[in-house]
Amino acid sequence: MSRFSTASFLSSKKEGRKISMLTAYDYSTARLLDEAGVDSILVGDSLGMVILGYENTLQVTVEDIIHHTKAVARGCKRALVIADMPFLSYHISVEETIKNAGRMIQEANAHAVKLEGGTEVVDKIKALVKAQIPVVGHLGLTPQSVNMMGGFKVQGKDEVQARKILEDAKLLQEAGVFSIVLECVPEKLAKIITEAIDIPTIGIGAGKYCDGQVLVTQDMLGMFSDFSPKFVKKYCDVGSDIKGAVAAFKEEIQKGAFPAEKHTFTIDEAILDKINL
Ligand code: KIV
Ligand code: NA
Repeated sequence: MSRFSTASFLSSKKEGRKISMLTAYDYSTARLLDEAGVDSILVGDSLGMVILGYENTLQVTVEDIIHHTKAVARGCKRALVIADMPFLSYHISVEETIKNAGRMIQEANAHAVKLEGGTEVVDKIKALVKAQIPVVGHLGLTPQSVNMMGGFKVQGKDEVQARKILEDAKLLQEAGVFSIVLECVPEKLAKIITEAIDIPTIGIGAGKYCDGQVLVTQDMLGMFSDFSPKFVKKYCDVGSDIKGAVAAFKEEIQKGAFPAEKHTFTIDEAILDKINL
């Protein structure tokens, strides 16, 4: 089975095949998603909220992303693995940006990195592409800017914002990104952007006209309910399954129903007699 590559992203758009992307942060989940055939796995900095229990993504570090990307990469045979560049890992200088992104590739085995922002980060993106590191852009609601945006809200509803997101998308394409995540933008704006560029848009809360879709896995599996954005579709309720299984485990322990004979190991009676002297 050949790897879904950055070239596959581009050919998918050309040939009208929609791209599927999900987040993962650990080996066993990554394996499940990969075996189910998802095209790409993002080790998102949503890690901070979903796995580490932070209030937002700002406390996530390069070390955190590397640690989790290593685990995910070991679980992926086909999916393209994208490591999210955390807050401040690509803002200080081009040099630091290349070093941090380079570690995602060299140490953690990611195939590409993602970073948030438009014109503000174009110089960093160009340097990464020059260093042969594939980059995914991220426009619209960019959670690392939560303190500047004043909360998590839909972006691009007024003319100034809408124009900026469209112009940023074109700039990112020129800078060499192979795809752009569009988060929380109106569907019709996402359509215009998708039609204006040749690289695929991956939407999250950006409607059906994007070239692909991404969701946070814990959201779509019903495992994480601290936040429940409008754009999430719950495909199953793993959270309830887990709670049910844990309650059953506890009850069976108390009743003596677990472990049963088939879960236990035996020993020769003669040996028991010897040690029981
Ligand atoms: O961190 C993340 O999970 C993301 C996706 C929601 C696109 O950036
Ligand atoms: Na992210």
